[in-house]
Amino acid sequence: MKKTVLVSGGAGFIGSHVTVELIGAGYEVVVADNLSNCDMTCFEGVKKITGRDDIPFEKVDFCDAAATEALFAKYKIDAVIHFAAFKAVGESVEKPVLYYKNNLGSFLNVLEAAERQGGCNVLFSSSATVYGQPEKLPVTEESPRQPATSPYGATKQMCEDILQDTVKASGGKIKGILLRYFNPIGAHPSALIGELPRGVPNNLVPFITQTAIGKRACLSIFGDDYPTPDGTCLRDYIDIVDLAKAHVYAVTRMMEGKMDEPCEIFNVGTGRPVSVMELVTAFERVNGLKLNYKIAPRRPGDVTAVWADPTRANTVLGWKAERTVEETLRSAWEWEKHLAGK
Ligand code: WQD
Repeated sequence: MKKTVLVSGGAGFIGSHVTVELIGAGYEVVVADNLSNCDMTCFEGVKKITGRDDIPFEKVDFCDAAATEALFAKYKIDAVIHFAAFKAVGESVEKPVLYYKNNLGSFLNVLEAAERQGGCNVLFSSSATVYGQPEKLPVTEESPRQPATSPYGATKQMCEDILQDTVKASGGKIKGILLRYFNPIGAHPSALIGELPRGVPNNLVPFITQTAIGKRACLSIFGDDYPTPDGTCLRDYIDIVDLAKAHVYAVTRMMEGKMDEPCEIFNVGTGRPVSVMELVTAFERVNGLKLNYKIAPRRPGDVTAVWADPTRANTVLGWKAERTVEETLRSAWEWEKHLAGK
C-alpha cells in the first residue's frame, strides 16, 4: 500500500519541486494550498512533469481549523510536509501580527489534526535564518540559534520549538524532522516549475533573472563593503531539486522508523559559500549575457555570511547536494525564459 504525504503549501516554489520528487519516489501526494502567494502554474507543471493528472489538489487555508481537520479526515495522511507560511522577511517586519497569526496558526492546526488522527510524521520547512549571524562558520545543527532578526525568523524558531514539544508529548505517535534550508535557488530542468514571486522579488536569483529578461531595469547589489573577499555577502545557495530530494530522504527516514531521536534537525546546504558578486558573474558566464547591475547601500537585516556544514545530512540522511551552481543558474534562466514564452 503506497504511503500518502500531505504537502501543505504544495503549489509553491519548494512544495511543487518536493511533490515531483515524492511522486518519483513512489509516494502518493495530496497537495493543499490557499493560493495566497502563488497561482496554479507550478501545480500544472507538476502534473506535466510526473505525467500524473490525478494528483489531488485541495484549496485549503490552514488557518481554518475545521478545514484542516476535514482534510486529514478525507485522506489517510502518513506524513505531512508543512510549507504553508508567509516568507517575506521585510513584510514580516511591517506586519508582525499577520505573520505570527498565519505562520503559527497554520502549523498549530496541522499538528492538532495530526494528533486527532492518532499521530503522523511531521516534516517542518525551517530555515538557516534561525542561526542569524553565526559566531562560527560553517554552521552545524548544534550552532546556537540567535535572537530572530525578523518576525518571519521568529516564527521559524517558534515552530521548531512547537514541533519539538509536540513530539515529546506524543508518546511516539508523532515523529518530527526539521529541515533548515539555506538559500534555495534554481528551477526544475524541465523549466515547467520554478520560483514565481508575486510583485517585486525580495530574493536575489529571481531578481537577477527578471533583470536579465527585461522585467526589471537594474539589479541592486546591496552592499560591497562587507568583511568578505569581494565585499559582498556570502550565502549557501542550494539547488531546488537537490533541496526537494532531501525531503524524500527525510520522509522515508521517518516512515521506515530509522530515526535516532523522535525529532531530528538537518541543515540542507552545499557547504560552499558563494558571494553575491560571484553569483552574478556566474549567471552572466553560464548564460552568455551581461547583467545590468549597480552597487547599492546595504539592506537592513542582512547577515554578512552564513553557510552550512552539511555533514549530518550527508552521513545520517544519506543526502548530498549534487547540482553545481552553474547548472542551477542555467535552470533559473531557462525557467524565466519559459515564463516569458521564449
Ligand atoms: C541573498 C543575498 C542580499 C536581493 C532570505 C531569508 C531566508 C530564505 C531565503 C525565504 C543577500 C543580496 C538580494 C537583491 C541583493 N527565506 N541581494 N540584491 O536574505 O539570504 O535569505 O531568503 O524563502 O530565510 O532570510 O536571501 O536572496 O534575499 O539575499 O544584493 O535584489 O543577496 O543582500 O546578501 P537571504 P536573499
